[in-house]
Amino acid sequence: MKPILEAKDLTKVFFRGSLLARDRIVAVDNVSFTMNRGEIFTLAGESGCGKTTVARMILGFEEPTSGEIVYENEQERKDKEKVWFSQRIQAVFQNPFETFNPLRKVEGYLFETVRNYQLAQNRADAVELIDQKLAAVGLSYQEVEGRYPSEFSGGQLQRISIARALLIDPSLLIADEPVSMVDASIRMSIVNLFRRLRDELNMGILYITHDLATAYYLSGQIAIMFRGNIMEMGPVQEVLMNPRHPYTQLLRESIPEADPDRKWQGRISIAETEQEEYLRQGCKFAGRCPKVMEICKNQVPDTVLVDGIHVKCHLYKGTASEVEGVRAKPV
Ligand SMILES: Nc1ncnc2c1ncn2[C@@H]1O[C@H](COP(=O)(O)OP(=O)(O)O)[C@@H](O)[C@H]1O
Ligand SMILES: [Mg+2]
Repeated sequence: MKPILEAKDLTKVFFRGSLLARDRIVAVDNVSFTMNRGEIFTLAGESGCGKTTVARMILGFEEPTSGEIVYENEQERKDKEKVWFSQRIQAVFQNPFETFNPLRKVEGYLFETVRNYQLAQNRADAVELIDQKLAAVGLSYQEVEGRYPSEFSGGQLQRISIARALLIDPSLLIADEPVSMVDASIRMSIVNLFRRLRDELNMGILYITHDLATAYYLSGQIAIMFRGNIMEMGPVQEVLMNPRHPYTQLLRESIPEADPDRKWQGRISIAETEQEEYLRQGCKFAGRCPKVMEICKNQVPDTVLVDGIHVKCHLYKGTASEVEGVRAKPV
């Protein structure tokens, strides 16, 4: 079966600073992965590793510097404006309070999508369709009608945002940190909703998170990113239970807490700033890696296959590790 989406050597370069002293940041560096229908694929990594930039390129908000994205419905993607509709890709973002204008009734967003995509002939049909999609996320039109964003909790707004995405029957849903700003008590109900969408609608979901616990619970495949690079990628069970890359090993030990950014970073020692890491010559992780070797400081490691897992690390250089079935052990 054709994949829903294939990212091939996807690269995005940003320039930062003034014209005379500007830094070239490779925010996404030759990232490749394949997503299938009915699969939840996770991009995980701490803040500032390039996850959102990958999502924005898939959504057509950002042009890749190089590389390409092959969508399931390839022949229709010529017209950029139509990417969302023809490819049936929808997105849910981190902060539901930013998605919805506080001065605008929430139902307005739902009717707007129905109108934009001409999903109904009249208002009654529109209400029926909206009610049906709200029911899929555990709400109803009655609960939403006439109300403003401030009258809902973050979790409810996130559900409404998912219901809006469902209106066009997406084949691929991109969920960028969808639960990191939602109360822990209802986080699992949203995470379970993603599982249901995968199972019942055979949807592909690109789940973006810094939280390995929900990633473990949800995903089939996982890619661990660090400063633009996929450091390790493979089936979630293997990658998280038996991590090969020192970065994955470190990440696994730092259990994130409620506040997404600061506490999370506080648990892993940060020896350098994000900027310095992006500008590193060799392996981006060399400055923090407990297993750093001389070669890591000046040579970018290749990605090798270790028991079918993609690992970008000099520890696995050499023939044995590249042979399938031979378990390479880190030295
Ligand atoms: N439009 C932009 N211009 C310059 N730098 C950017 C831009 N968008 C993102 N970046 C930088 O690219 C890196 C990756 O960012 P991002 O994709 O948002 O990471 P994540 O979603 O993993 O936190 C960061 O260093 C960020 O500051
Ligand atoms: Mg992000």
